[in-house]
Amino acid sequence: MQGNVPLTARHYINGRWETGVTTGNSENPSDTREVVATYERADRNQTELAIRAAAEAFGAWSVSTPQRRADALDQIGSEILARKDELGSLLAREEGKTLPEAVGEAARAGNIFKFFAGEALRGGGESVPSVRPGVGVEITREPVGVVGLIAPWNFPLAIPAWKIAPALAYGNSVIFKPAELVPACGWALAEIISRASLPAGTFNLVMGSGREVGQTMVDSPLVDALSFTGSVPTGERILQSTAARRAKVQLEMGGKNPLVVLADADLDQAVECAVNGSYFSTGQRCTASSRLIVESSIHDAFVLRLRQRLSALKVGHAMERGIDIGPVVDRSQLDQNLSYIEIARGEGAEHVWGGERIERASPGYYMNPALFLAKPEHRVAREEIFGPVACVLRADDYEHALVLANDTPFGLCAGICTTSLKHATHFKRHAQVGMVMVNLPTAGVDFHVPFGGRKGSSHGPREQGRYAAEFYTTVKTAYTMA
Ligand code: UN1
Repeated sequence: MQGNVPLTARHYINGRWETGVTTGNSENPSDTREVVATYERADRNQTELAIRAAAEAFGAWSVSTPQRRADALDQIGSEILARKDELGSLLAREEGKTLPEAVGEAARAGNIFKFFAGEALRGGGESVPSVRPGVGVEITREPVGVVGLIAPWNFPLAIPAWKIAPALAYGNSVIFKPAELVPACGWALAEIISRASLPAGTFNLVMGSGREVGQTMVDSPLVDALSFTGSVPTGERILQSTAARRAKVQLEMGGKNPLVVLADADLDQAVECAVNGSYFSTGQRCTASSRLIVESSIHDAFVLRLRQRLSALKVGHAMERGIDIGPVVDRSQLDQNLSYIEIARGEGAEHVWGGERIERASPGYYMNPALFLAKPEHRVAREEIFGPVACVLRADDYEHALVLANDTPFGLCAGICTTSLKHATHFKRHAQVGMVMVNLPTAGVDFHVPFGGRKGSSHGPREQGRYAAEFYTTVKTAYTMA
């Protein structure tokens, strides 16, 4: 994909496009000769300007009519949907997921804006009788204030959409910081939002490092709420730094998601769930299934079938037709994945397939998807790798599989492949996670229902769907004596 002119991505602060303090480049992980974008990087001062603009804009936006918010979000959603191929192609070039995956993600982002356009109109509260005579009680929701949104690189359109859309729908003003690997996607979204006639300062895009831009948002007393998706250490730092000033915080962090395969499962379906959940999007999803927990009696047949499927997968340039798995997002993630291959071998996990770096026609961060047979105590079975690396754990029976599934500090999602209603029902109730999938891959969620986990995976209210209101609004109870 040579020949694409790099895009120039500027900050959007207080209704104006601004240059930054320094600049950076984002590169195409499928072809590192290609610069996808040159982008501005802000320092603390510039981030503070954006925060102040958002704080000033909040008053008017917080009392804007639901119709105004709905119209703006609907316009943004329509444009994203109309341009999903072009936005998908930008995403595939900048992040490296395959073009069909990227176009699907762009459509998801558009649908999220459409959903929250409707939600803006569906506000409302409750009116309940008081326990005291003559008194009425109303329970309503109000916006939280200025919200800081810190997004990861792995879903550069959908995750920003599922933070920005509810924030605006419920009347908050926004500072959005995209991940430094994907500024072009963040900018493209901001460019669409900039044409939706929001009052200046209501929505701001600030690019740059977590240390400068992210930390300024975390520290600022003007930022009332922070929604973060990313790594566990960063999430924990955000929680600690905001505790003293009691900002509202929503964190989506890691996962080490199990997919249980019982002996009564449809074997083909189970293998497809494993291939999709573990390896698609190059395994770079916090919902990826990296622990395949397989009942003893079908263990060998499952591993054989999965190995055959892996040998047929095509790894290559994200824009090429027929590719199943794109490159790893960057060199440091590739190095980390490869180091886990060494760790797995060193600990005595049995290597089944893949895990080596591979060359393609263009210089990129390519590796073969990897599969190991591991023991529950192996690091490859305990730590989030965030790459196309999965392991199989052997389970004696359903009860043992459930114990293994829950034996992790994480709790984002869990899947089970079975034809037994009894086991599926029990698993849905007893998996210690926020999301359960039966006969489906653990990754690939709907856009209109709650998203989030338990234990070390998440903190704070759920994202997405109507449940997003828990984070982006605050509840008021009003008493009136007639
Ligand atoms: C999905 O699996 O469809 O960072 C979405 C992540 C998640 C999103 C997963 N927050 O991978």
